[in-house]
Amino acid sequence: MRKSGNKIRIAPSILAADFGYLADQIAAAKDNGADYLHIDVMDGAFVPNISMGIPVIRSIRNYSDLVFDVHLMIREPIRYIDDFADAGADIICVHAEACGDLAETLGKIREAGCRAAVSIRPGTDSAVLEPVLDQVSMILLMSVEPGFGGQKFLPGTLDKIRATRNMLAAHGLSGVDVEVDGGIDAGNLTEVLRAGANVIVMGTSFFRGDMAENGRKIRAVIQEFENNEE
Ligand code: DX5
Ligand code: ZN
Repeated sequence: MRKSGNKIRIAPSILAADFGYLADQIAAAKDNGADYLHIDVMDGAFVPNISMGIPVIRSIRNYSDLVFDVHLMIREPIRYIDDFADAGADIICVHAEACGDLAETLGKIREAGCRAAVSIRPGTDSAVLEPVLDQVSMILLMSVEPGFGGQKFLPGTLDKIRATRNMLAAHGLSGVDVEVDGGIDAGNLTEVLRAGANVIVMGTSFFRGDMAENGRKIRAVIQEFENNEE
């Protein structure tokens, strides 16, 4: 049994998938070890990029029973929570920096029947999350500036993961998941896990190249980490 007790989950980001074959790519992600499907929604305002939205989620929902982990990089997401829930989101993650009323937004996610999660950019102090810790099932720490896949992992994230885990423990909320997103691959995964993250987003390192080989490598790293923890 791992000391922290939070199950490790792989959350491939479909931003790095081939959109021409999206349903096939999602099925292959599941076959190769995905626990969650990480779906990046960008509005061209909160982040300088536009990705996909509600109709895409509604369509792929018909082809996958994976947990849909929907990462909303959009301003004032409260306007669209019901739509994302209705389209098939399981987890809805909003950015603390993008919400006028974060607590109200998280409440709305739960009322819509979804798991609520909150994310912060690399430059935002995890202390801003303290007032809403008991309202979320997951915290998403960005390890790159949100907006694009394929960026380099920011090493300062490791301290932030530890600080977040300590803050959760101090509030008796160690059961909350800590997800990390951006620039993670088989090479830096162990340090991310060791710092205390348990939900791992991987776009480029999961979908690009040979997905079966990528999945094997990632699962081997997790297996070794779990064996060392025993
Ligand atoms: C960036 C997105 C990430 C991204 C991760 O704004 O939130 O989920 O797709 O991609 P990689 O793993 O390639 O950094
Ligand atoms: Zn993301």
